[in-house]
Amino acid sequence: MATITLHLQAADGSEKTITGRTGKSLMQAAVAAGVDGIAADCGGCLSCATCHVFVDAEAAARLPAPSADENAMLEMTATPREAGSRLSCQIELSAALDGLRVRLPAAQY
Ligand code: FES
Repeated sequence: MATITLHLQAADGSEKTITGRTGKSLMQAAVAAGVDGIAADCGGCLSCATCHVFVDAEAAARLPAPSADENAMLEMTATPREAGSRLSCQIELSAALDGLRVRLPAAQY
């Protein structure tokens, strides 16, 4: 496992830089770092949509497309879905994602 750097921008514009280990999910890295704005109530089993994040087009191109189940859950987010919406529990960290920048929604509930 390697460690990569991740940048998370809160809805108020403040940014937090954290690290995450490859093989873990973005959600797990954010929760471990105490990032506000990612509730992750279901613990990553794709049943709560409280780990919603937004990625820009450059980041989206570095990620696998969302699965059908992720797509379905993205219709249930508290903050409306946008083109770059993803569930962070479904983003597996890899060396290719080093420096990934995501925005957090205003609300997860
Ligand atoms: S943590 Fe529940 S869907 Fe991601």
